[in-house]
Amino acid sequence: MKILVTGGTGFIGSHTVVALLEEGHEVVIADNLVNSQRNVVTKIKRITGVKPFFYKVDVADKKSMRKVFSEHKFDAVIHFAGLKAVGESVQKPLLYYRNNLDSTLTLLELMKEFDVKNILFSSSATVYGTPENVPLKEEDPIGGTTNPYGTTKLIIEQILMDFVHANEGFKAVSLRYFNPIGAHPSKLLGESPNDIPNNLMPYISRVANGKLSHLNVFGDDYETPDGTGIRDYVHVLDLANGHVLALKAFSFNHAYNVYNLGTGKGTSVLELVHLYEKANKLKIPYVIGPRREGDIAASYADITKAKNELGFVPHYSVKDACRHAYLFEKKQK
Ligand code: WQD
Repeated sequence: MKILVTGGTGFIGSHTVVALLEEGHEVVIADNLVNSQRNVVTKIKRITGVKPFFYKVDVADKKSMRKVFSEHKFDAVIHFAGLKAVGESVQKPLLYYRNNLDSTLTLLELMKEFDVKNILFSSSATVYGTPENVPLKEEDPIGGTTNPYGTTKLIIEQILMDFVHANEGFKAVSLRYFNPIGAHPSKLLGESPNDIPNNLMPYISRVANGKLSHLNVFGDDYETPDGTGIRDYVHVLDLANGHVLALKAFSFNHAYNVYNLGTGKGTSVLELVHLYEKANKLKIPYVIGPRREGDIAASYADITKAKNELGFVPHYSVKDACRHAYLFEKKQK
């Protein structure tokens, strides 16, 4: 298939482009580089031997994006492009709603104009809000999101449902990621935010590499076995593979479909710290601090649907991800 990947130089996007190319698909990347670097395209070529087409473009810019669609006949779009820092979204809600919603609406208008019928969307477990119980299933209630970032994901899922309902033959699939972690074993691709990381894994990797002094554990008084927050940490390579597998859902007779992508297992903050220490034979100094506002105690996936319908089976362990993340961060300046 010929696939347009928006946000294809980002953390999950770049790993997915590698997986698509390795599967023999043709890839065109559209990315404005607001949160990634152009040299990721060269790194993708070094890993796969194939240099994907690249357009430096804001997906919300209809004129520029129309040029992209006019130069290629796409079979599908995978839509990663979007701002994704939870904390920043609370400070700058309008930026998040404008950017994440405008880019999606522009994309869908152009898909209709050029008759590109299939879209895979990068959604998030945040759409489940504060879950009643875990593990989370796709049919569990969504809503009650606790930040504008999560709310944009919720709204975009609704937009996709309405769009495919109104346009015969169009198909949309939302993939709800749990907590993506890790890096490519080549150490060429990984997660390295431009400023102090909000997410746990990149923060620990900076501590492990001496770039930050210690980890602050946000609360150890949750209703969990060791009192710290539990999440479903899924290796980015497994997540990328999940996207390749999800392409088959366009042949299913559902116009709209949703799949959880996780491991199906929960890991606490302290368990992750200890796994990281074991994987890399080092110590991670940490201090127990107060809870972070908006955090939930536990969230992990039921991945039965992805397993049964897509053949999605996670291959990498959390420990593998700790090793890959450490080695990648070690290579960063
Ligand atoms: C994980 C756990 C924290 C940092 C968010 C988004 C989600 C996705 C992944 C984009 C929690 C604890 C964290 C730290 C800590 N984002 N923690 N000290 O909040 O589960 O999910 O990132 O795709 O959509 O919502 O991830 O890594 O921030 O936190 O103790 O310095 O680690 O309390 O229990 P989160 P996280």
